[in-house]
Amino acid sequence: MTHTPPRASHDHEGHTAHRHGADHGHDHDHDDQTEILDLDAEVLAEHIASLIAWLPVGAEPRHVADLGCGTGVGTFALLKRFPRAEVTAVDASAAHLRRLREKAAAEGLADRVYTVQADLDATWPDLGTPELVWASASMHHMTDPDRVLRRVHGALAPGGLFAVVELAGFPRFLPEDAPEDRPGLEERCHAVLDRHHVEQMPHRGADWGPKLTAAGFTVEAERTLTVNIGPPHTELVGRYALSSLRRIRSGAAESLSAEDLTALDQLLDTDSPRSILRRGDLRVRTEREVWAARRT
Ligand SMILES: C[S@@+](CC[C@H](N)C(=O)[O-])C[C@H]1O[C@@H](n2cnc3c(N)ncnc32)[C@H](O)[C@@H]1O
Repeated sequence: MTHTPPRASHDHEGHTAHRHGADHGHDHDHDDQTEILDLDAEVLAEHIASLIAWLPVGAEPRHVADLGCGTGVGTFALLKRFPRAEVTAVDASAAHLRRLREKAAAEGLADRVYTVQADLDATWPDLGTPELVWASASMHHMTDPDRVLRRVHGALAPGGLFAVVELAGFPRFLPEDAPEDRPGLEERCHAVLDRHHVEQMPHRGADWGPKLTAAGFTVEAERTLTVNIGPPHTELVGRYALSSLRRIRSGAAESLSAEDLTALDQLLDTDSPRSILRRGDLRVRTEREVWAARRT
């Protein structure tokens, strides 16, 4: 059995695939998310590395796939952990993949990363035969995740491992009694977003264990990683909080009270004395759930 990842610049199913960092236009819609994914990667780098180190991979994988790779937080951690591996990084977003290729080139890793632009809900891309598949915060985006899990099972090498990482919720930054004039504002914003997400992403927060078993996997291990960083916080955490709250505002503004919206705008106004960047009490609180599932 060969474990060679695909090499052609375009595969037969019309997905765009790149070995090197060619630029294919600009996609402003994804700029915000690209920035947050990059900040997320920097802030949580150690935690992601510890999750990968924990995976019961067995022999060092040579071919790895990162599904819904975003800008590559998992891809780069996997390349570091497995120095002889190549990673096939798949995402629907051309902008995220472009960013990933830029980072790969800057770090001298371009020859170990192969990007594939594909909608995993549509035609399945050629992944080669990976011994490890990683999917972080992406499976809940799928319209039919059970079908995707079965496809991953079919693509993996026998004995290979599928790591599903999901967020229990979006990160929190403010103390519960903040801001002073509108305590609990952050939770109210998340409550609004949660209501939207129930409709748009019904699989968010699912128990992936039974789904993986139904797809033919043996779930070997499961873990919850709790992240709690600061205070005091770094300048990086401040930027991460600011970007995240900006994004939250764009999703929640219409459903917030006028008072909450005013308080949120003051937090987001970097010139205001109430700016989130001037607070000394920020922390990053978030959780990741991980399932390690074997193709037996
Ligand atoms: C929350 S981000 C996670 C990115 C990265 N794995 C991480 O851990 O930071 C979800 C990613 O899944 C991608 N995605 C969502 N639906 C997809 C689909 N149907 N096919 C391929 N990628 C998809 C998005 O473009 C986005 O990059």
